Amino acid sequence: MSLLSLALPAIRVYWIGFRVVLHQLLRRLLRPGWPLKPVFPLQNGNVAIVTGGTRGIGYHTVKYLARLGMHVIIAGNKEKEGQETVMKIKEEALNAKVEFLYCDLASMKSIHQFVQAFKAKNYSLHVLINNAAVMLVPERKTEDGFEEHFGINYMGHFLLTNLLLETLKQSGTHSHNARIVTLSSATHYVAELRLNDLQSSCLYSPHGAYAQSKLALVLSAYRLQHLLTAEGSHVTVNVVDPGVVNTDLYQNVCWAAKMVKWMTGWLLLKSPEEGASTSIYAAVSPELEGIGACYLCNEQRTKSADVSYDEELQKRLWTESCRLVGIPDTAP
Ligand SMILES: NC(=O)c1ccc[n+]([C@@H]2O[C@H](COP(=O)([O-])OP(=O)(O)OC[C@H]3O[C@@H](n4cnc5c(N)ncnc54)[C@H](OP(=O)(O)O)[C@@H]3O)[C@@H](O)[C@H]2O)c1
Repeated sequence: MSLLSLALPAIRVYWIGFRVVLHQLLRRLLRPGWPLKPVFPLQNGNVAIVTGGTRGIGYHTVKYLARLGMHVIIAGNKEKEGQETVMKIKEEALNAKVEFLYCDLASMKSIHQFVQAFKAKNYSLHVLINNAAVMLVPERKTEDGFEEHFGINYMGHFLLTNLLLETLKQSGTHSHNARIVTLSSATHYVAELRLNDLQSSCLYSPHGAYAQSKLALVLSAYRLQHLLTAEGSHVTVNVVDPGVVNTDLYQNVCWAAKMVKWMTGWLLLKSPEEGASTSIYAAVSPELEGIGACYLCNEQRTKSADVSYDEELQKRLWTESCRLVGIPDTAP
């Protein structure tokens, strides 16, 4: 293992991050008043699940959706923080329908229990936002033996989405499709998907592993949309890239990057509230009714990495993921 093969993923990730930050700064300078606050239709009676809704982008997504009248379930792995978040949102938005349900995405058992508890409530499900993530964690394994980025960011959401698919299908209609929104990141542009080493066990780079998990999410979102369209389901799947946002996601970056973030974050980075805007757009915008397989950034459709459109790779990843979580591969 050469030093270069370890350093390269980090260089690529910081390079793409730098480009996004520069783009955000230019946009801010050239378009004062951006981002605009769009007005979305009320969502009374609709139900959403947001993973990792206790802080950062997820928290602001939950808060906004609840303000629109949606009943939002926060799926999170810290009971105390979850209940505190619920109380905070209810204090800020009277009549907000928000609840917390425990779900540790690092544990397949916990995901199954979460889905069981959710289904026992007999709610419909109109929006699922796969938001939670970890970034640049040291080499560690989840309860099920997956590398942590791959296990939490990708496999956890893969299993959760598949277990909730029937409920989403039953809740979507021709004129009001149910929506799956998956958060990826610009790092997917510089990622490599190693199908023969998805757990990064041959060469562990935290940057490479995070980026790979974010590319896997894009590939599998496109594959799922393909499968849903083929069977005529009223469910859409879109991918969101929130930009570079000032949140705790950066707690594991190197000290120099932390320093730069601390000094310039207010100018260069989006606030968590701004960061949530594309997730909210993907979840409720009438413009996206019936439209799936889009990569959304700054509330606009854009192109994801060329490799993410590789249908053979999408298929192979999907099949392997089904095998890893022990569900049938429903490919036609
Ligand atoms: N911030 C950015 O610049 C940026 C850029 C591109 C993409 N994104 C993406 O945007 C999404 C939100 O990121 P963020 O910046 O808001 O991050 P954040 O502030 O760190 O929030 C991450 C959320 O994920 C939850 N989480 C972590 N591990 C979990 C687990 N095992 N089970 C359930 N929940 C878990 C966290 O809960 P705990 O508090 O309990 O750990 C937290 O609520 C992520 O998918 C991220 O990859 C962010």
